[in-house]
Amino acid sequence: MTKVDYSQTIPNNVNLSDDRRLQRALEAWQPAFLNWWDEMGPAESSNYEIFLRTAIDVSAKGWAHFDMVKMPEYRWGIFLGDKEENRKIGFGAHKGEDVWQEVPGEYRAELRRLIVTQGDTEPASVEQQRILGRTCPSLYDLRSLFQINVEEGRHLWAMVYLLHAYFGRDGREEAEEMLMRHSGDEDKPRILEAFNVPTTDWLSFFMFTYFQDRDGKFQLSSLAESGFDPLSRTCNFMLTEEAHHMFVGDSGVGRVVQRSIELIKENDTLDIRQFGGIDLATLQKWINFHFSICLDLFGQEKSTNAANFYNMGLKGRFQEMKIDDDHKLDGEVYRVPEIRDNKVIFSEVGALTSINERLRNDYRDDCQKGIDRWNKMLTKAGIDFQIKLPHSAFHRNIGTFADINADINGNLISKSEWDKNVDNWIPTAADRAFVESLMVPVLEVGKTAGWISPPARGIQGMDTDFEYVKFH
Ligand SMILES: [Fe+2]
Ligand SMILES: [Fe+2]
Repeated sequence: MTKVDYSQTIPNNVNLSDDRRLQRALEAWQPAFLNWWDEMGPAESSNYEIFLRTAIDVSAKGWAHFDMVKMPEYRWGIFLGDKEENRKIGFGAHKGEDVWQEVPGEYRAELRRLIVTQGDTEPASVEQQRILGRTCPSLYDLRSLFQINVEEGRHLWAMVYLLHAYFGRDGREEAEEMLMRHSGDEDKPRILEAFNVPTTDWLSFFMFTYFQDRDGKFQLSSLAESGFDPLSRTCNFMLTEEAHHMFVGDSGVGRVVQRSIELIKENDTLDIRQFGGIDLATLQKWINFHFSICLDLFGQEKSTNAANFYNMGLKGRFQEMKIDDDHKLDGEVYRVPEIRDNKVIFSEVGALTSINERLRNDYRDDCQKGIDRWNKMLTKAGIDFQIKLPHSAFHRNIGTFADINADINGNLISKSEWDKNVDNWIPTAADRAFVESLMVPVLEVGKTAGWISPPARGIQGMDTDFEYVKFH
């Protein structure tokens, strides 16, 4: 059942044609989706032919097919990961019971909320990245952007399928709302704040795919633990696609660092803006901004909602099954930050109420890996500069740190000290103008913009100078 049926209007591996009502409902939503793609998706791109991968199978090997495709003709569809026989709920009050194939009535509202919140981020990112194609640093990068965009569109399909298939009328209404809210819209914004900030330059795009898509990895991983089996299977397959998005971010920032190192060494100065490079101080500001707004995505440090989702068996921890404990968290504790006497201290609270904080810490550890790699490149090049993740207290809008000001090391500071220093920490209008000034499109086959190194290798065995996007 892993093969995808492409003879259908909506490609799928869920035997959609066996359920006429559901099929008709989704076929009615499809034109609204295509209309949204046309209006809010990648600008001026509908005639481009792009070397894109399309899912044809959900097994670990050989799940994708690559071909030159026009994006509006991309076959968005519904793919669930393979069913695991006799799967049991792995955590919470129902631990050990059979997983649910239908929505448990008493948890319907919570489950719908989890699916809607996740689903909303998918089209949001496409909207945020709408105009980036105009300033791509290479055809290779342009292809990466479009690949990510079509897959985020498919992730929306994945969540909309669950809403339609399992939630009846209110599910269908939620599916419509997904196309009505828009990133940054004053009246109907996207649900989460980090998905309302436009991504207008490619440095931000690589930061987005490093930090925001990685938030996606952690959210999807905890949802993949869900006792609601269709959600688990959906998320498992989405994670396969997500890995490439993070690769784009990881390798993208790495290529910026690489190019900056070259310019620093060539000119014997850290001040490489004058040579058309992104200086490390600027890079650090972009990291400070993206990492801090992503920490907010994990919610309050202490959260009864998160505790309930866990207890109910709806959303687990990251790699729940690999954690060695009772998976019920009775009497377990976890450390969360608090402010006392104008200092950040840590105190122990129930592990169940601090599920969000644990996921945020797991996320931080994962983010640190890239930072370490980039720092190694700097050390190896003999450059006396290290990049770092800012403290969790820095530049936060949700939770314990929302009402205080802290510097990047987590020292609490006054509002006036914040105002005095903020320009050293997060991008200013002038920084953004500078980075945008570098964003000149490079459309020649095999060429790359001067502020970033060329990719180390091509896609799917193709050379780096393969024509990844054809414009005609
Ligand atoms: Fe996604
Ligand atoms: Fe993604």
